[in-house]
Amino acid sequence: MSESKTRAGNTTVHVALGERSYDIHIGEGLLSRAGEIVAPFLKRPLTAIVTDAHVAEAHLATLERALSAKGIRSTAIVMPPGEATKSYQHLADLCDRLLAAGIERRDRIIAFGGGVIGDLAGFAAAILRRGVDFIQIPTTLLAQVDSSVGGKTGINSPHGKNLIGAFHQPLAVISDIGLLSTLPRRELAAGYAEVAKYGLLGDKAFFEWLEGSAPAIMRGNSEALIRAIRSSCEAKARIVAEDETETGVRALLNLGHTFGHALEAATGYSQRLLHGEGVAIGMVQAFRFSERQGLCAPGAADRVAKHLKSAGLPVHASQIPGDLPPPATLLEIMRQDKKAQGGKLTFILVRDIGDAFIARDVAEHDVLDFLTGDLRQR
Ligand code: NAD
Ligand code: GLY
Repeated sequence: MSESKTRAGNTTVHVALGERSYDIHIGEGLLSRAGEIVAPFLKRPLTAIVTDAHVAEAHLATLERALSAKGIRSTAIVMPPGEATKSYQHLADLCDRLLAAGIERRDRIIAFGGGVIGDLAGFAAAILRRGVDFIQIPTTLLAQVDSSVGGKTGINSPHGKNLIGAFHQPLAVISDIGLLSTLPRRELAAGYAEVAKYGLLGDKAFFEWLEGSAPAIMRGNSEALIRAIRSSCEAKARIVAEDETETGVRALLNLGHTFGHALEAATGYSQRLLHGEGVAIGMVQAFRFSERQGLCAPGAADRVAKHLKSAGLPVHASQIPGDLPPPATLLEIMRQDKKAQGGKLTFILVRDIGDAFIARDVAEHDVLDFLTGDLRQR
């Protein structure tokens, strides 16, 4: 991983993966330069843009103009917004529409949206004609700091989240912070949870910087946003370069996710709980559980909760509207999580802020006791 400064604060982070290496372009005004950035990757001046209806309404015309300014013809495929689009049905529909658009194996697809579109379009690219390359243009904070980087693609199954998928690295990532100006505040906060995650899992100094900078980031201050996205991408690039397919250290990126995914599944992947909100609640639970197990000094969980709350995030399951299933059902959902191995639950636990570790043998009764106590608290 290396990082180089370019003009006007724009910056590039390199993901070092041998022949699958790529650059993440971060900054302002990049969407209107997308044709220039994308053109060197194309074998012929034709592409398909996969997006969703919200992104299409706000930004598709700018992208299409930027491509056609460089003589690139594009077909836009507009999917419905929302987590439910990461499904078998929408995957089949998307693959057929890509084939109908004349996409051949040598062509490149553009994933233009949040994590839902990036995961779905990336997976479609991985399987279409046995593998087509793709470029990520992430449009949410969550996608700019996390899902567009690292090559995890996939869809959900009725059995759980992201259970069907492939590792398929993009050729490039183009993160224009201007895209975030149309993002609803709740979605911006959900993305912020993944920014905070990098501090919490391995970089206390970054977390401390965030404690002072969250208001500027949430206001859309360019300098603060670029720094937050750059530091997040550097952290992710470092981890992915070391462990591309999650046989080890990459699991740290799942801090808060085992708890969070269970809550997401329990709320039907609906607007009741966004992915980043589940991660926020899940990270606080991971800190509280670690404290309860005597692994982490008391006080860290409260500090994490205070910070995430200040960014507008929920920090306790009781803030999720509507009823939740009992703790035993949440535990049952955790057993289906793909991070479960040989029937044992794997959690990312913490010794301190910035010091997470992989715990592969967590006793189910400890988790059940914790959830029972935690869910009782309001
Ligand atoms: P999302 O893609 O559903 O986007 C959130 C909402 O914002 C949608 O309604 C979308 O239409 C809208 N939107 C997107 N960009 C916009 C913009 N610029 N202006 C206005 N509206 C805009 O959600 P997300 O939070 O980006 O991603 C969540 C998904 O990412 C989950 O499915 C999660 O599993 C996945 N994820 C994947 C990885 C990975 O490594 N592949 C990592 C983290 C999360
Ligand atoms: N978001 C977890 C990962 O990319 O590994």
